[in-house]
Amino acid sequence: MTSEAKTVAIIGAGVMGLSIGWRLAQAGFKVQVFEEGLANRQASWAAAGMIAAAAETAPGQETFFALARASREDWPGFASDLETASGHGIAFLPGETLVVAQSQEHENHLRDTVKYLRQFDEPVRLIKKARLPEVEPEVSPDARLGLLSAHDGQVDNRILGTALCEALRREGGELFENTPVEDIVLESARAVGVKVAGEIIPADHVILCAGSWSSTSFPSSQEIVPQVHPIKGQMIAFQSDPGRLTRVVWGQGVYIVPRADGRIIIGATTEDTGFDLSTDQPTLEAQKAKAAAVVPFLGDLEIIDSWAGLRPATPDNLPIMGPSDIEGLTLATGHYRNGILLAPITAALIAEYIQSDQVPAGLIPFAPQRFSPSR
Ligand code: GLY
Repeated sequence: MTSEAKTVAIIGAGVMGLSIGWRLAQAGFKVQVFEEGLANRQASWAAAGMIAAAAETAPGQETFFALARASREDWPGFASDLETASGHGIAFLPGETLVVAQSQEHENHLRDTVKYLRQFDEPVRLIKKARLPEVEPEVSPDARLGLLSAHDGQVDNRILGTALCEALRREGGELFENTPVEDIVLESARAVGVKVAGEIIPADHVILCAGSWSSTSFPSSQEIVPQVHPIKGQMIAFQSDPGRLTRVVWGQGVYIVPRADGRIIIGATTEDTGFDLSTDQPTLEAQKAKAAAVVPFLGDLEIIDSWAGLRPATPDNLPIMGPSDIEGLTLATGHYRNGILLAPITAALIAEYIQSDQVPAGLIPFAPQRFSPSR
């Protein structure tokens, strides 16, 4: 593009800010992404990288499932574009995910979930106890029933972040780390830029993608989007032999994600403890025990790493995406448990909106205004 390129200031360099920034830079916008700390170091780093549209859906969650499935369908194209654009392989592994039940209650839940998802032609099926070892030999003999999801997969979320930073830069986008946005600059009630280190950086569009910090990152953010709050997840990792566990396996309140190099990631707690990123030994040991109840060999491994991340939760657990009440300011936040899964569709929908100035139908259920009592 020429000097007439429209400018976009993005607040937050997690998977959302980077994906949107990259797509808009590809479309010819002059993109600047501002990050208070380092890029891709919060929830996008802490995640396990699951692309779990079916495994994260429970009966009754049509709105979530439609978005999640659309994004999962976008993942192969997104991954291949990104690998080409960045020169990094991101270890995107589409494939089967197994959920196992170890209680009657969870068994009932899996049966209901399969019935529910099949209404939408989702390729999920129940696996009887006797057949579970054929599907995943390392699953505990105590497992009572399985749900096999043919299309849920995973990506290495940490490499994903590195690749997005590189792709953004190669498209001419700029990334400013350790650069907090102090405020949004308004002119006649329209967002016209951001204030950084006391200076005004003008922008035609401002996009807020600050994850758990979206309601707190600058003075007016509480007023603009008061609904986002952090939910902590504590995680652990083991090192095993590559291929010993062949797929992502979920139990009740635990998931087990094997990487190609033999690292196995276990998640995660769900704790409403504010902006607290601490981990504690009893909780980590409890996560290990939960994981070992599903895949027994994990009980013999040492925990080699542990960390915590903050999921950006919203009152209805759905993301907040689309134009805010301030002209020129768009929101893309609140992706709660599914930021990695939802990155491709979020980037596509927000980029479409910024380019066309028309709100795509896909954004309507996630409009920030759904929380306004007068609407
Ligand atoms: N999506 C997994 C988690 O939030 O723990």
